[in-house]
Amino acid sequence: MKRMRRLRSSGAIRSLVQETRICKEQLVYPIFVIEGENIRNPVESMPGIFQHSIDRLWEECDAVRASGVRNLLIFGIPAHKDEKGSQAYDKGGITQRAIRYLKKAYPEFLIIADVCLCEYTSHGHCGLVDGCHILNDETLPLLVKMSVSLAEAGADIIAPSDMMDGRVGAIRRGLDGAGYQDIPIMSYSAKYASGYYAPFRDAAHSAPGFGDRRTYQMDPPNGREALREMEADIEEGADILMVKPALAYLDVLRAASMRFDYPMAAYNVSGEYAMVKAAAAQGYIDERRIIMENMLAMRRAGADIIITYHALSVAGWLADE
Ligand code: PBG
Ligand code: ZN
Repeated sequence: MKRMRRLRSSGAIRSLVQETRICKEQLVYPIFVIEGENIRNPVESMPGIFQHSIDRLWEECDAVRASGVRNLLIFGIPAHKDEKGSQAYDKGGITQRAIRYLKKAYPEFLIIADVCLCEYTSHGHCGLVDGCHILNDETLPLLVKMSVSLAEAGADIIAPSDMMDGRVGAIRRGLDGAGYQDIPIMSYSAKYASGYYAPFRDAAHSAPGFGDRRTYQMDPPNGREALREMEADIEEGADILMVKPALAYLDVLRAASMRFDYPMAAYNVSGEYAMVKAAAAQGYIDERRIIMENMLAMRRAGADIIITYHALSVAGWLADE
């Protein structure tokens, strides 16, 4: 008789036939850096997550170092915003300074720089705005300038999250022209217009001042369209592809990982984090079990890289397993 239970009879045998594993080398931990001094602001909707000023970044980074996580995704929150998001591509901008500090104080970290204008624009959109229209081609040169300036500051990977058409190609040419041929692009290829980003917009002060992002981010009902986005990004020179959010879009991640032989990243976003933390705080779920199950779900669906606010907890649990 076929007995599926034979391979489940002990921890040792379950571990032997375990199909999917998680390791800390695959985890990326997002960090919010804010202009100012002596700041460690808790983000209300994301328990355990803070905005840090550069002078207090060491508190978080020492914890990252101790956890064994080596990959950071950096988001800067500038003090001044304007129509063109000037601080995004200023040599002395908050993100550029944070990266310079990190490369010096924590040389072993891999620094991934998010490229988008929404944290830097007064209107909170990811591109330039004309009336209520978000301009595509006019935005590209600014994204290129931002990418080059982040590479100059020391970023190891450039990660455009704006969803303007043609941005990967423009950024690739810009990086190459500035001597950064060896800096990879991790593209937020399939980024959906999602309600799951709400806590992030508090954390990064990047909520749009009018309208929403539906004319540039993807429409949630569309799965196959994500593959066309990825195809375009590959043609334009992307090195790593991403699906975001992760958990509500595992079908997309699965299809993409079957179709494309490129490293696949899954972004376990702020709303997914907030939901788990809130339910765990109420005692409705077992936080550790649920988080590890979510990590496995992303790996099973095909993620090689997991961007998650749970990264430090996960690394800790992996260490004591
Ligand atoms: C910037 C950006 C966003 C996120 C990552 N980069 C917000 C948005 O597009 O509105 C979301 C991350 C998260 O929710 O954890 N474009
Ligand atoms: Zn944006």
